[in-house]
Amino acid sequence: MTNTRLYIEGGRKISGEIRVHGAKNSVLPILAATFLGAGEFKLSNCPALSDVFSATKILGSLGCKCRRTADILEVDSRTVTDCEIPEQLMREMRSSIVFLGAILGRLRRCRLSFPGGCELGPRPIDIHIAGLKKLGAKIIEDHGVLDCTLPETVTGAVITLPLPSVGATENIMLAAVKGTGQTVIQNAAREPEISDLAGFLNACGANISGQGSSTVVIKGVERLHGAEYPIMPDRIVAATWLGAAAITGGEVMLSGVRPEDMHSSLSVFEQMNLSVYPYSDRVYISAKKPLCAVKTVRTSPYPGFPTDCQPIVMAVLSVARGTSVIVENIFENRFRAAPELCRLGADIKAEGKVAVIEGVPRLSGAQLVATDLRAGAALILGGLAAEGTTTVSNVHYIDRGYESVEETLRSLGAKIKRI
Ligand code: EPZ
Repeated sequence: MTNTRLYIEGGRKISGEIRVHGAKNSVLPILAATFLGAGEFKLSNCPALSDVFSATKILGSLGCKCRRTADILEVDSRTVTDCEIPEQLMREMRSSIVFLGAILGRLRRCRLSFPGGCELGPRPIDIHIAGLKKLGAKIIEDHGVLDCTLPETVTGAVITLPLPSVGATENIMLAAVKGTGQTVIQNAAREPEISDLAGFLNACGANISGQGSSTVVIKGVERLHGAEYPIMPDRIVAATWLGAAAITGGEVMLSGVRPEDMHSSLSVFEQMNLSVYPYSDRVYISAKKPLCAVKTVRTSPYPGFPTDCQPIVMAVLSVARGTSVIVENIFENRFRAAPELCRLGADIKAEGKVAVIEGVPRLSGAQLVATDLRAGAALILGGLAAEGTTTVSNVHYIDRGYESVEETLRSLGAKIKRI
């Protein structure tokens, strides 16, 4: 599997219409929440991604039954056989740390291995741990295994996060839903995926308010019940297809999206001289005019410019006229697309949190290596624009967040195949 590569013949305009699939970063915490809910659930608009498959394997290891029919994923979590997540599954996907809050919320006990770092640098979970301890959790860390217990009744707390961590906000919400009293999360993450998780939990009988703002209030309830729920569209995948049209001078209509979740990325595309037309559940982009550099792009927590779009925008700016600067404020090792894009002829100097991009008139094909999910997506965009042939290896990173990426791009006019 790991020697699978994408083979791209670049220089063709990306144009056409595509429907954007459900959000990876929403369905993963919602799958953890189905364990908390202990019922029968039907998730629609559920993307077919390897990370989603990993999450269903974790649910299976806990005794749940999962069944997928097209984009509907059904989960029956009424029976439980374990409170421990096998190490191999924890290593497969870093974001499985969000199962900690769900398992604690239901069983009051959880054992799982420390997720460790990932391609983006060390991924600490100190904010998760501190928040859960404020809820009364006892967490023993022993040789990379976390052994956690939560008191029988969670009576609520006021938890102020040192930074608006998405995963920590989700874990605390999941651990606080069942209990008495009220939990307030201050400086909570405001990402739309947090609101989607709260929407799902409230559909299951939880009592959460303030989601989407910096202060989330969870009033404890005694029990939850089954629910049906549509997963929100993936705003990062949407931005990726817009970037593909931008970098190849094409035009694309996206359907099934929520433009209101994408203001900051749409505004960066507009600053590049692209014509961007958001409608209710669609976005149209046209790259008929030459791309302009953007003076400074800074990543920040929502509603700021999303770090997940940073590698995508870096690729597009590499062929924009002028000098652009990107400041990556969220992750410490997230410029890994830069050296690979330079193999295509891009002129990018990345140092610490800053990358300086001198636009070049054209890129030419090369053999590239994907190092993580979004850097891999950026390399595909580079290959679509580059003259000649580009190969991208380590496609498994890309399959974590993009449903059949080559089929999608072929439907938009790309010459791309998986070998
Ligand atoms: C979520 O990761 C997303 N993953 C990431 O998307 C996304 O890049 C990130 O949020 C930021 O938006 C999922 O939702 C599954 P954080 P998460 O906790 O929750 C530091 C993708 O490509 N931090 O908001 O891990 C951390 O090191 C992925 O789809 C602590 O220091 O992000 C980072 O620098 C990549 N201590 C910053 O906060 C903690 O306890 C933001 O992390 C937790 C985080």
